[in-house]
Amino acid sequence: MSSLVCIGLQWGDEGKGKIVDSLAKDADMVVRYNGGNNAGHTLVINGQKTIVHIVPTGAMRDNIKNVIGSGVLVDPIVLAEEIQTLQSLGKLKEVWQLSISPLCAVITPEHKEKDAKEEDGRGAQKIGTTKRGIGPCFEDKVGRKGFRIGDLVNQPEKYDSRLSEAARIIKPYVKEVRDEISFLCKNGKVLFEGAQGSLLDIDYGTYPFVTSSHCLASYAAVGSGVSHRIVGEALGVTKAYCTRVGAGPFPTQMDAEVDEAVRQKGGEFGATTGRPRKCGWIDLVALKRACTLDEVKKIYVTKIDILAGMPEIKACVAYKINGQEISHFPTSSEEYNKVEPVYETYPGFTEEQMNLPWLPENAEKFIQVIQTYTGAQVVGVGTGPGREQERIYSNPWAV
Ligand code: IMP
Ligand code: MG
Repeated sequence: MSSLVCIGLQWGDEGKGKIVDSLAKDADMVVRYNGGNNAGHTLVINGQKTIVHIVPTGAMRDNIKNVIGSGVLVDPIVLAEEIQTLQSLGKLKEVWQLSISPLCAVITPEHKEKDAKEEDGRGAQKIGTTKRGIGPCFEDKVGRKGFRIGDLVNQPEKYDSRLSEAARIIKPYVKEVRDEISFLCKNGKVLFEGAQGSLLDIDYGTYPFVTSSHCLASYAAVGSGVSHRIVGEALGVTKAYCTRVGAGPFPTQMDAEVDEAVRQKGGEFGATTGRPRKCGWIDLVALKRACTLDEVKKIYVTKIDILAGMPEIKACVAYKINGQEISHFPTSSEEYNKVEPVYETYPGFTEEQMNLPWLPENAEKFIQVIQTYTGAQVVGVGTGPGREQERIYSNPWAV
């Protein structure tokens, strides 16, 4: 019996898609429980790149059940398209491979329009939303004015023709499978696939520069309708550096030249919007805070290969405000914007050393720094985009 909640420990885009895909080979079920199609999970399988926004990453394997839990906002038009695309790639051939909770709130074309209009009207105060209608849909959900996937597929004629057309395609997949998730948590292996990252959480992130949903592992229970008692350990994913797309505090942004070089080498452009991501040195203060929020004991570090070739690499180990080190985590974006990062600098490693079957010594030392600072165990390191490009130190499923 085991389940694992895979979450991002930064501002999203940590490379969760690849990790979930890799862990899914031992799973019976993959469950998405938060966010919506603001997420974009990039996978490279046999050299072919696929991006999924709403269907769980487990859909790339043929023997797994995938669930879109009640905590996910569903744009039926996007979901219908994604199902059809995956089917054209030979995936999701059978109905049992995907279940959508009837309780998911529906994102409508009006939500998308409102998101774009509000964002454009914010001027200098922009959040940098993905304009996928997430905020406005949540407003209607929490304001008890929205409608849900169950309502849509039961009475499609009541809604916009674009939605009712999509409803026809998704209807066969709409069913409540909470009991099955609970059963498999106890008798099999369930992987909860988080979207975005802890620092984008509506409460614990860098408000108001956050998404509208909860991005913590704790939300896996609520967002999939199972007891908190059976949701297992969190596996936190972090890049060996960090990135942010959209506005908001980002104290460790690299100097312009390095930022540009990392963006190009790391392909740091939004999987959903194509926007360039800001690149920064790993922020261990923020990472430790994210680990604390969910008692994360296992970490996977992605994209260490992108740092190869740099003479030196840095990590932020403390925050200062007005020259004074602070011992608390900033509770407002205003305060966060005043943060001056305190760095430690470590010797780099070369591209050639990355071709060896083991990690370069200086890369190992850097991993050790992350481990010591956060108190969590690094269970794996990603060394490239492909499925096989990773070093596993210990099986993340092991309890
Ligand atoms: P929204 O979720 O579209 O409302 O966007 C709010 C903020 O979250 C913006 O800064 C987005 O760039 C960011 N965001 C939302 N989803 C993701 C994601 O999957 N990866 C990275 N950033 C995201
Ligand atoms: Mg992403």
